[in-house]
Amino acid sequence: MLSIYANVIRSRGADFGCDPRLLHYLDDNRFLSWSGSGTPDHHHYGTGGLVQHTCEVLTISLESARLVGLNFAENAKQAIVYASLYHDIGKLWSYELDVLGRWAYSRTNKEQGHIARSYHEWMKDSAGVLSDYMIEHVAHAILAHHGFKDWGSPVTPKTRLAWLIHSADYMSANLSNPLETHHG
Ligand SMILES: [Fe+2]
Ligand SMILES: [Fe+2]
Repeated sequence: MLSIYANVIRSRGADFGCDPRLLHYLDDNRFLSWSGSGTPDHHHYGTGGLVQHTCEVLTISLESARLVGLNFAENAKQAIVYASLYHDIGKLWSYELDVLGRWAYSRTNKEQGHIARSYHEWMKDSAGVLSDYMIEHVAHAILAHHGFKDWGSPVTPKTRLAWLIHSADYMSANLSNPLETHHG
């Protein structure tokens, strides 16, 4: 499946020198076709919604950093790509197609939730590939991306990266449907 959103993420990853082993989801049809939600009244519902939302989070994060004059080094830009790509990757296990071909919540979503699963997949994929500092830096942004404990994050943002990802996530989620409030 071709995805303009995946190509944008791929090209930012290449620009900043990201490790290709951590961009493998961009070639994964499951990621490219997945929904961003398990119910139509939540953000980015429907086929291709997850990669679109992921691309929006990356683009808004990079633009926000630029607008406020953050002069990020190359490895900080890599962290933005990794955190954007992995922040909701757990949704691959949270949603599934039902017998009528509609996106729905899975049993895994009830039992783990997508943030815990995203964290798990990031820790598994990045082990032995990146420095311990980068792994922990991105892990925090993934865990904090909903911004508040009441909104499902086990920790609140403590770093600039975590604030960028949370803010971009919130904006992408809510601009997708101005009549609803979503915690991406
Ligand atoms: Fe999100
Ligand atoms: Fe999320």
